[in-house]
Amino acid sequence: MSGLYSLILVSRRLYSSTSHHHIKAQKYVLTKYFQGEPKKSNFKIIEEELPELKNGEILTQAEFLSVDPYMRAYMIGYKLPTDMIGGQVAKVIASRNDKFSVGSHVCGAFGWRTHTVCNPDKLNEAGLMPTVLVPDITPHPVSLALGILGMPGNTAYFGVKEICQPQPGETIVITGAAGAVGSHVGQIAKKMGCRVIGFAGSDDKCNYLEKELGFDRVYNYKTTDIRTALKDGAPKRVDCYFDNVGGEISTTIMSYMNKYGRVAVCGSISSYNDLKPPKVSIVQPAIVFKELKVEGFLVNRWFGRWNEGVEANRKWLNDGSLKYQEKVYNGFENMVDALNGILRGENIGKAVVKINK
Ligand SMILES: NC(=O)c1ccc[n+]([C@@H]2O[C@H](COP(=O)([O-])OP(=O)(O)OC[C@H]3O[C@@H](n4cnc5c(N)ncnc54)[C@H](OP(=O)(O)O)[C@@H]3O)[C@@H](O)[C@H]2O)c1
Repeated sequence: MSGLYSLILVSRRLYSSTSHHHIKAQKYVLTKYFQGEPKKSNFKIIEEELPELKNGEILTQAEFLSVDPYMRAYMIGYKLPTDMIGGQVAKVIASRNDKFSVGSHVCGAFGWRTHTVCNPDKLNEAGLMPTVLVPDITPHPVSLALGILGMPGNTAYFGVKEICQPQPGETIVITGAAGAVGSHVGQIAKKMGCRVIGFAGSDDKCNYLEKELGFDRVYNYKTTDIRTALKDGAPKRVDCYFDNVGGEISTTIMSYMNKYGRVAVCGSISSYNDLKPPKVSIVQPAIVFKELKVEGFLVNRWFGRWNEGVEANRKWLNDGSLKYQEKVYNGFENMVDALNGILRGENIGKAVVKINK
């Protein structure tokens, strides 16, 4: 009996590790550089035969693909044609790696593709994210590994703690405040005892941040004069600025800061789609006379502490003090629409694409 049982086990294992050679992955290949807004015609979707699993490798099937602003910004640095980059949450469907069993979920920088063969112990080539097991977060969706429990969550966590270093009672301003990173930054800053001021692109977003997430004041940057908003919302001026958007609004905010203020330069989404980079008012006088500390950062600076951020965010998620919203798009064929969705501001919180099985 036990012999038969182990035979079944062995054959199951073999089945799960070798049976996939008929699976073809679909993937997006960028064939033309973006000009302005990304278009479907910038890509070709092609099929790829997957190799047999070697020792240590896994085969995964994508469940959620991430769309992030860096995808628009980074691709100019690649030689074409090139596989489209990006994070995804995928299910392990065959495994020759004991740490990653069949049925578990992983989060990795596999790109825009449906199936992937990889060795999760080796850092992804693109170096954008380590491949990690998604911890059990029921009843929350596994897609949170692309949001508050993943790259954007760690961007918020380390960006606020390590770059802004806010003290209780200080005022922090956040642009892109309703997005994946911004909405998270504000909640952490509240925990650290700050007055939190946000700028976002619609009245609905502003209401959500004030009413649901506890931001002190949020202004619609499309309909409000920025200086007037700052005078209203930050009577003690600004000590920290978490800059997600760049451009003129950032110059205005920096000129409204207190001496020794800290600026975390996280991104500059206001110009990612521009054909010509915009000219903005000179920012150096504010930096000099307020003696500001302006620091750019990339979240992978904290690869070595990745789990610290994930666990801190998970604890806050579990105690109910970290809230989230997701914007879920559907279908592998709609990746470009989803990417444009975030660049246009359709999302509150993290945007992800659910892949049909
Ligand atoms: N340094 C790092 O390691 C790192 C890591 C992750 C993300 N980032 C950066 O952080 C920023 C936010 O990323 P995210 O993933 O959280 O994206 P996100 O904020 O969820 O989505 C992008 C948002 O940008 C806003 N936006 C679009 N065009 C804009 C414009 N012209 N002016 C102002 N806002 C505009 C839109 O909201 P509105 O409706 O408010 O316009 C949109 O929802 C980006 O700049 C990204 O590149 C950096």
